[in-house]
Amino acid sequence: MRILVTGSTGKLGAALLKQLKDLDYQVKITSRRKPEGEAFPWVYSDLLSGEGLEEAVKDVDVIIHAATSPIKNSKSIEVAGLEKLLSKLNHIHLFIYPSIVGIEEIPFQYYRLKYEAEELLKNSSVPYTIARATQFHSFVEDLLLSTPLFKRYIIPGKVKFQSIDVNEFARHLIDLVNKGPQGKLDDFCGPDIMTLREMAELKIKVNNETNDVLSIPLPGKLYNSLIEGKNTNPLQKKGQGDKSL
Ligand SMILES: NC(=O)c1ccc[n+]([C@@H]2O[C@H](COP(=O)([O-])OP(=O)(O)OC[C@H]3O[C@@H](n4cnc5c(N)ncnc54)[C@H](OP(=O)(O)O)[C@@H]3O)[C@@H](O)[C@H]2O)c1
Repeated sequence: MRILVTGSTGKLGAALLKQLKDLDYQVKITSRRKPEGEAFPWVYSDLLSGEGLEEAVKDVDVIIHAATSPIKNSKSIEVAGLEKLLSKLNHIHLFIYPSIVGIEEIPFQYYRLKYEAEELLKNSSVPYTIARATQFHSFVEDLLLSTPLFKRYIIPGKVKFQSIDVNEFARHLIDLVNKGPQGKLDDFCGPDIMTLREMAELKIKVNNETNDVLSIPLPGKLYNSLIEGKNTNPLQKKGQGDKSL
């Protein structure tokens, strides 16, 4: 089985490569930058211009599409880039698309595009599996809990997350490779739903920090949808928080 991992320099891409090293697949990887010290064969490709896509998808059976661009050129990459890629995939057995829990209910442009991309894939002739996950632990940490200001985490403390270990999600995606096209799967969510305040307090306790938390409200529908936990799914607590992966 020959697998192509797109987005090989990203968070999910790196987690996939780490685990694929121990498995018996032929792996090829692609992104615009070459991941440092990576032994798998790498091909340059750009979803924006389309350059290199043909070469990247040549001779592969399965694609795990971990390339994305949430901020810059996001429509061109998430939707138009996917369309370009799909047009070259008459030969593949399976296209695995990682997506995000609750995207149709959260008013955020990147999430609208992810939904559009899901629909594009569903209406294509490419055999697919859509695997939605909640936010990665590292995403919440990097975006909201990385830098205390004057010894305080100033955060919208009421918003909820059910974050997941990226390595667990990567393993879930790799487990899908041999299962063939599954359509859209049940959500893959972290073990606990917590408010951001609870997460910050846990971080402070675990790391024995002297920081404290200042919770601030934010206006808007996005903020309210995250307070309501639209990005979570209490019925699908899959992650174990397994740090051994
Ligand atoms: N982050 C989360 O919390 C989370 C949660 C659930 C699902 N997901 C989904 O998981 C997937 C991966 O997310 P991630 O957080 O790992 O993303 P990431 O860390 O931002 O990585 C994005 C990857 O896309 C590549 N890329 C960006 N622009 C490109 C372009 N024009 N052409 C080709 N490649 C390009 C980047 O490599 P180069 O810059 O080297 O090209 C990088 O390898 C996404 O579909 C995301 O929606 C993420």
